[in-house]
Amino acid sequence: MSRMMKIRVPATSANLGPGFDCMGLALDVWNELSFEPAVKLSYHVTGEGADKFNKGAKNLLTKAYSNLYEICGKALMGASIRARNEILVSSGLGSSAAAIVAGLFGANEMLGKPLTENDLLKIATEMEGHPDNVAPALLGGLVVSVMNKDEIITRRYEIPPLTLVIVKPDVEWLTKTARAVLPKSVSRADAVHNIGRAALVVDALCKGDLDLLQLVMEDRIHQTYRLRHISGGMAAYKCAKKHGAAALSGAGPSIIVFTQPSQAQYAMADIQSVFGERGIKTKGIITCPNNKGVHRI
Ligand code: HSE
Repeated sequence: MSRMMKIRVPATSANLGPGFDCMGLALDVWNELSFEPAVKLSYHVTGEGADKFNKGAKNLLTKAYSNLYEICGKALMGASIRARNEILVSSGLGSSAAAIVAGLFGANEMLGKPLTENDLLKIATEMEGHPDNVAPALLGGLVVSVMNKDEIITRRYEIPPLTLVIVKPDVEWLTKTARAVLPKSVSRADAVHNIGRAALVVDALCKGDLDLLQLVMEDRIHQTYRLRHISGGMAAYKCAKKHGAAALSGAGPSIIVFTQPSQAQYAMADIQSVFGERGIKTKGIITCPNNKGVHRI
């Protein structure tokens, strides 16, 4: 391929309350990338994460890009990869998943699409460790995924244009820590609490039923354990619940809330003020679900 190729990959919010490690939603927040054949492989970022990645920090995108060439048994072709990033890094909005999916999808397109979408999903899941962010980044919409031995079973649902507020506090919070603070086992009562609610979250999102979503987005197996360790997290989550159906986005630290469009600005300011009172800076975004995964533009 001799010409420049451009793609977009979306942010994703995993878990959605009770759907821990199984559910994720693609959002209308995008990283845009161009791939141009070059002598060596290079990566340059503008926007979110630019400082980190342009200093030469290891990045999942070029790792995924190189992996795909290796898996396909092809010699790595150089490429100048340039990214314009909107997805906040270390935020619980799937920036790692977006990098993995963009690298794999970009390499697959450069090679003339030797691998299927399902192949890409399997490789992305192996790289990320679980499918809940990579699946919606690849497929768009709401995706429910389960691992069945080596297979990943997914179902994808189109979601109506709901309004979503995201508030990301400027706190140090690594996914590794977010997983380490979880209990090794959960009680039957907590499992039952989550199973029924997770199923109803899917129904509520598909129908755009905010009232039902607000009732069933409650989780008992990961959020509380994590919110306790995120400065201002518990208070911000409680505040978000006053405005609609709230959750910790992925492993956090961002809080998301599905709310009425007319209430979105106020909800965002209110949640930001909870962190602000504790001296914690925030970034706020008002967005909506999107039904498109990674694609060429
Ligand atoms: N399901 C994952 C978690 C998402 O909650 O840890 C973050 O990668």
